[in-house]
Amino acid sequence: MKFSFASLLACAGLATALPSSVISSTELSAPEGVNIESRSTNGNVTDKGIARFDNGNIWDGQGNGTDSYKLYLGNGTTAAGWPSIESWVSFGNMFENYKLTIQWACQNLNWRLPNNNDDEIEAIYNGIQLAANATGVDHRFILAVIMQESHGCPRVNTTNLGVRNPGLMQNHNGDASCNDNKKLTTPCPTSTIHKMIMEGTAGTSSGAGLSHCINESGRSDVSDYYRAARIYNSGSLSKTGDLQSNIATHCYASDIANRLTGWVYAKSTCTCDTDPKSCNVSKN
Ligand SMILES: *[C@@H]1O[C@H](CO)[C@@H](O)[C@H](O)[C@H]1NC(C)=O
Ligand SMILES: *[C@@H]1O[C@H](CO)[C@@H](O)[C@H](O)[C@H]1NC(C)=O
Ligand SMILES: *[C@@H]1O[C@H](CO)[C@@H](O)[C@H](O)[C@H]1NC(C)=O
Ligand SMILES: *[C@@H]1O[C@H](CO)[C@@H](O)[C@H](O)[C@H]1NC(C)=O
Ligand SMILES: *[C@@H]1O[C@H](CO)[C@@H](O)[C@H](O)[C@H]1NC(C)=O
Ligand SMILES: *[C@@H]1O[C@H](CO)[C@@H](O)[C@H](O)[C@H]1NC(C)=O
Ligand SMILES: *[C@@H]1O[C@H](CO)[C@@H](O)[C@H](O)[C@H]1NC(C)=O
Repeated sequence: MKFSFASLLACAGLATALPSSVISSTELSAPEGVNIESRSTNGNVTDKGIARFDNGNIWDGQGNGTDSYKLYLGNGTTAAGWPSIESWVSFGNMFENYKLTIQWACQNLNWRLPNNNDDEIEAIYNGIQLAANATGVDHRFILAVIMQESHGCPRVNTTNLGVRNPGLMQNHNGDASCNDNKKLTTPCPTSTIHKMIMEGTAGTSSGAGLSHCINESGRSDVSDYYRAARIYNSGSLSKTGDLQSNIATHCYASDIANRLTGWVYAKSTCTCDTDPKSCNVSKN
């Protein structure tokens, strides 16, 4: 892949992680006039050791895990202290534990939008399973990114800091939205919710989904997920290989790792966004 803004952004969701209060808008700005490569909308995880097309088993991890926050820095490998896939929670427990947050997510966003009803919550659950089965992206990783991007509110505002990011996963210029141009759709239709999750996971015609980001990482171990989180958020990896470094949200990959091991309500101890020096953040 050639080294240019276009290739740097090839995997870019340039997605904004909530809460927005911890992110400075200058750090999130995408370069203007960037021409983003066109890509397939049906990306799947190509590494057989990483791909998981059977997400039918929802009791597939360490139950509830532990609701605590541990700050992870460095390259995303278990050697650098990041959690192994064996230490991840079960999807069933993870969804159950986030359900209350998902239920109240919309009113807790900046714009106090109408909350989810039961059908919308069910559509999120089914949408994750459908996208996971179709792309080989582990369902727990998709849920972690949804919680990171929108807290599970399908009416989350479409953001635009150079790239339009709509929907539950604030994906790369996707079609599905229930809050575009200040037009709110309540309830958000099941098909729209499913499409939002598919666009975030399998990609859109103008940008990568989680599957592409995992492929791009290409390390064949659990660090592919944490590296993919970094790529989804900022469009590329830091030259240092440290996942707290680069643009966008420095806590993003660490947050995702914590969500995958049971973090729900515990106070975050990540200082990488409030005090980048404390995490040895490099902008390159
Ligand atoms: C995997 O991701 C890479 C990097 O974005 C992409 O070029 C490739 O098309 C993807 N493969 C599939 C099958 O999705
Ligand atoms: C993954 O994508 C490739 C390329 O598009 C395709 O050949 C393959 O059948 C897909 N695998 C699955 C399991 O869908
Ligand atoms: C996902 O695939 C598994 C088997 O591979 C199947 O049991 C399950 O019903 C599928 N789920 C959805 C939502 O398609
Ligand atoms: C997970 O937490 C729920 C609610 O606290 C509890 O009922 C359940 O037994 C726990 N499951 C495991 C596997 O620890
Ligand atoms: C990742 O970081 C750990 C700890 O700093 C180091 O031991 C390991 O060699 C690094 N792995 C890669 C692939 O860079
Ligand atoms: C967010 O969405 C609401 C509802 O559509 C709208 O009133 C508000 O202006 C939006 N905020 C921004 C920053 O676009
Ligand atoms: C900080 O990161 C740089 C790479 O950007 C590395 O060379 C250096 O060892 C790190 N320092 C500490 C204290 O981790």
